[in-house]
Amino acid sequence: MHESLDPQKKQVSVQALQRCIEPDCNATYPLNEPIYVCAACGGLLDIEYCFDKAFNATVLKKIWNERRSSAGARDSSGVWRHRELLPFADSVPVVSMAEGNTPLYAAPRSARYCGLQSLLLKHQGCNPTGSFKDTGMTTAITQARLLSARLVACASTGNTAASLAAYAARAEIPCAILVPQGQVSHAKLAQALDYGGMVLEILGNFDVAMRVIRQLAEDNGVYLANSINPFRIEGQKTVVAELMQQLDWKVPDQVVVPGGNLGNSSALGKGFKELFDLQVIDSLPQINIIQAEGAAPFAHLFSSRGQYRPVKDAVRKFSPVEQPTTRATAIKIGAPVSWKKALRAIEWTNGRALAVTEQEIADAKAIIGRDGIGCEPASATTLAGIKRLVTERIIRKDEKVVAVLTGHLLKDTEYVIGYHQKRGSSAGSELMTGSFSNHPIAVEATRDAILKALEREQQKRQLP
Ligand code: F0G
Repeated sequence: MHESLDPQKKQVSVQALQRCIEPDCNATYPLNEPIYVCAACGGLLDIEYCFDKAFNATVLKKIWNERRSSAGARDSSGVWRHRELLPFADSVPVVSMAEGNTPLYAAPRSARYCGLQSLLLKHQGCNPTGSFKDTGMTTAITQARLLSARLVACASTGNTAASLAAYAARAEIPCAILVPQGQVSHAKLAQALDYGGMVLEILGNFDVAMRVIRQLAEDNGVYLANSINPFRIEGQKTVVAELMQQLDWKVPDQVVVPGGNLGNSSALGKGFKELFDLQVIDSLPQINIIQAEGAAPFAHLFSSRGQYRPVKDAVRKFSPVEQPTTRATAIKIGAPVSWKKALRAIEWTNGRALAVTEQEIADAKAIIGRDGIGCEPASATTLAGIKRLVTERIIRKDEKVVAVLTGHLLKDTEYVIGYHQKRGSSAGSELMTGSFSNHPIAVEATRDAILKALEREQQKRQLP
């Protein structure tokens, strides 16, 4: 598919293009046009493929399986291993850190907690910088280098910042990061600084930062690495191929994912749809997008379904949250840029969106931790959402459910310590009650005192 490289444009000449997702517009642009939204109508852009007829399901599965045991640089990345799904020629030098390849864990305690017979957790926090962002950053920065970008930039609640800073460093491209001051966890900030990103703290929330960074990217040469950039989505969607391989191509009933700026849920929807169209899988799971109650414009939109005919009329119904609040700072977003793509993912898969409370998120997070897995707060919206959906009998207890954990436990230790020691986290002021809290016990340094303390502690513990 990607054999012909145009040396002039340093880009594949192509059986893929960028297309506006607005049904009334449908404008197209070549891959090497550095735009992020449609020049004609401002709509979001998709990368659209004319897949090679030679790529039938059997061939694709065989190639992808074989590459798992290959030592080749591209093959050892969970993203580039599935390069038939990506808009790059094979000869393009990739900026990769062996991203993807993340584990799929059985989580029995979490399953019991939410009332399922079993539950699988796809842990995207096991990526090189500790979040799913790396799977999209590898493709976005590869494209930035192809376009000879002189600066890459993003707005971020922290994880995009860490990921972009790392990949920009690998590509030796300077990198600018806009973050809301005081609203990013220390661990994420530390990563962005360590990888050499130029971190600019603004007074204002993520949505303000996003608005400003989009203005900055109007300057030629500044490459925008947020998920509004369709090359990010292309990398992120490959998690679907990796997951399906891990599941021996048996499609789960439900896939559950947190929703912030809504790029990741959009990517999952596109990934499943493309594999279905290529007949690599024979059905689609329902995609469930879970938001935090204080930052849930998309869940609100979904609950007003029936009053609009998606996607077109939904515009009238969609209202951003002016002052989003949640301790899950990764998803503290009131005006998600990719909401239309996420709505499309829900329509394609007959899925749904809902919001969960701070307490539900915090308790779900602690339970995932007790499975020995752990994740950051935003990721735990998934388990909280599943619990709600099982209780409401929307998900049956025998369904096959996969939750996508988006970030690593160590991304936000202030939150964890706050929960377990029943202190307010850095991101919030009120006290959080830790229903499954596990605080350190001050103890006299004697054998007897320690044994007594352990006995008391064991009696206290009641877990699912
Ligand atoms: N989970 C984590 C850990 C995240 O960092 C994010 C987004 C999401 C979920 C939501 O994903 O935005 O694609 O819907 N973090 C962005 C950032 C906004 O700047 O790191 P989404």
